[in-house]
Amino acid sequence: MHTALMGLQWGDEGKGKLIDYLATNFDVVCRYQGGANAGHTVLYKGENIYLHLVPSGIFHPNKICIIGNGTVIDIKKLQEELVQLKEKGIDFDNRFFISKRCHIIQPEHFTREERMQKDIGTTGRGIGPAYADKISRSGVRMGDIFSIKYIKKRGVNTDFIKSLKTFKENFGQFITDTVDMLHSLTRKEKKILFEGAQGVMLDIDFGTYPYVTSSNPSTGGILTGTGISPFSISKIIGVAKTYTTRVGNGPLPTQMDNNTQEMIRDVGGEYGATTGRPRRCGWLDLVALKYAVQISGATEIALTKIDVLDGLSQIKIGTEYEIDGHITNKFPAEVWNLERAKPIYTIFSGWDNTREIKEYKGLPEEAKEYIHYIEEYVGVKVSMISIGKKRGDLIIV
Ligand code: IMP
Repeated sequence: MHTALMGLQWGDEGKGKLIDYLATNFDVVCRYQGGANAGHTVLYKGENIYLHLVPSGIFHPNKICIIGNGTVIDIKKLQEELVQLKEKGIDFDNRFFISKRCHIIQPEHFTREERMQKDIGTTGRGIGPAYADKISRSGVRMGDIFSIKYIKKRGVNTDFIKSLKTFKENFGQFITDTVDMLHSLTRKEKKILFEGAQGVMLDIDFGTYPYVTSSNPSTGGILTGTGISPFSISKIIGVAKTYTTRVGNGPLPTQMDNNTQEMIRDVGGEYGATTGRPRRCGWLDLVALKYAVQISGATEIALTKIDVLDGLSQIKIGTEYEIDGHITNKFPAEVWNLERAKPIYTIFSGWDNTREIKEYKGLPEEAKEYIHYIEEYVGVKVSMISIGKKRGDLIIV
């Protein structure tokens, strides 16, 4: 049976490190949505490697890595990543595959995005327009590059056709029918880890629309983005940071005061992996988190970056919103309501140090209290706690 791992906030929850850690227990790592708007930094042999499209499982020899059909492909970025991996001596022949059904990001998608980039604060990676063309049925897909006649008929720009031909010549062997492959791997009882990009609060349907991405990072995206059976997923790991961050525009109700934000940004390295933009930082928002747990069907929570809060005398958690004098613990569907939401906080005592701690029982009592409160509120257990940047900086509960 398979496992899914997805962000429960506005992205950047530290999923890359967890995927990298968990990959050893799986045969396959598969992405199901998003594109090069995502960014994972993986520490490989002492060097930081940035990946936007290729699943981070690629660093584990023999693991199969698949880019599912729900993902949109920037061939230039993908090519750069594959060349980079080859240069680092990582062999991915016969274990890296791209779905024939993935939509291709075309040059005009970048131009069209320029208009929305300012309002929504998008990453400039052509994501919105590429998904818009998919839905309006005017896109082209990875499998189509095997018929130049067909893509010409679909009106693809002549210069871009040349780039597609080059991509096909160099990397065409990686493009395949991944639906067939995923089902065949399932029949052989291979274990698949589905890797979400962004987070539930950026989901096109369930996030803070219109300040969202154009795909479904939540669980539904796995089904439409890979073609796998819903009954083959038995575990859903929702990843939440012990605080909240957001890049791009849109409300963040629990945003901290400027000084605390600066401190957290500095200690937590809270700058966008794709765009380098400073992330806004906020306290943990349990109204949003409980909603995200419901939407995702998370069966457990991985809590990340607890060490970033080390040394604070007080730690706040948003537990309710006050909207126009009404107190609620329900996450509003309308962005204009969310913009007016004032968080009501429960205040916890801080703790000194969580770094280097290997077991749950070794954590400071205050940190345990904080974790316990989260579990009680959202109704799901915390199964992993990340206490630092390195692969092994993880407490398994
Ligand atoms: P887009 O996905 O580039 O269209 O951007 C839409 C919104 O999602 C913007 O607010 C982006 O900052 C945000 N976003 C997209 N990808 C990520 C990510 O990987 N982490 C965090 N935010 C993201």
